[in-house]
Amino acid sequence: MSIVSRFARAGALCAAGLMGLVSASDAGAAEFRLGLITPPNHVWTKAAQSFADDLSTASDGAHSVTVFPARQLGNEAQMLQQLQSGALDMAFLTVAEVSNRAPDFAAFYAPYLAEDIAHAGRILRSDTARGMLAQLPETVGVVGVAFGGAGLRQIVSRGSVESASDLAGLKLRITPFDPILDFYKALGAAPTPMPLPSVYDALANGQVDAIDMDAELIWALKYYEHADTIVLSNHMMFPMVGLVSGRVWRGLSEADRTMISELMAKHVDSTIDTYGSLEGGWIEKLRGTDKTVIDVGPEFFGETIAQWDATWSEKAPSLSAIRAEADALK
Ligand code: BEZ
Repeated sequence: MSIVSRFARAGALCAAGLMGLVSASDAGAAEFRLGLITPPNHVWTKAAQSFADDLSTASDGAHSVTVFPARQLGNEAQMLQQLQSGALDMAFLTVAEVSNRAPDFAAFYAPYLAEDIAHAGRILRSDTARGMLAQLPETVGVVGVAFGGAGLRQIVSRGSVESASDLAGLKLRITPFDPILDFYKALGAAPTPMPLPSVYDALANGQVDAIDMDAELIWALKYYEHADTIVLSNHMMFPMVGLVSGRVWRGLSEADRTMISELMAKHVDSTIDTYGSLEGGWIEKLRGTDKTVIDVGPEFFGETIAQWDATWSEKAPSLSAIRAEADALK
């Protein structure tokens, strides 16, 4: 059994055990819906479609998954609510959204937890990270199948940036979740929560001065075109998690749980390798634009990192274990 299969099976059994709801009978054919906010050509969306194709094949056409990208079913907060009520079967969501309901997941956003994209992948595949999924059925009402990746976070600014003081007071777009809000507040910026689909226009028309984003989307969605400076800081990881509604899970046979969790885990996990191999290319393309690109490390952010740690070590109990795991995996 592959590592992914073992993880998926362990997660599934753990979730089933927590909920006490293993079904003995085969639930039969099902048409599932899977939602996500990323656009059709995004790595996460392609992985979702590959999962859908594989599940159909593995179940001899008995099960189908229709993928709804680009926020067709609502924003992430709404999709998480739909998963809880059983109105939505599955989703690939940012761990950021999950951390809004389960603050322990903020541990993944510790600044410079990962030293590079390969290290981020090792952290997400660690037993410590996987173990955190076990809390989701009880705290959020969803089954967490596996973690996926996205690039590390960078900053794109409409103005010139030479030091962190140039970001002070700037309206800086962030994904709507508290760990990143606290990070930019500590830095002295004016963090502006904004969902992904609104970012392009907001940057283009000057509603925000800067954005927090990953290299894939800075390049693919051409955010850089409306900026002067790209700060390659790699300051945070940005994991994804494959989720199944707890209510839907309860109605599945054990065989279907195993098949779904193994296949979903395989495709969610595959995004870690995809970012590992593609992120360098996106960065090189950004360096090839006519924009000013600066490379910075933790020293750029000064006291911000210690301040973040002080706030979140209390709110995210797993932070010290994740840090220890990250150190061991360097
Ligand atoms: C963002 O909010 O920046 C984001 C969300 C999903 C995938 C990638 C980026």
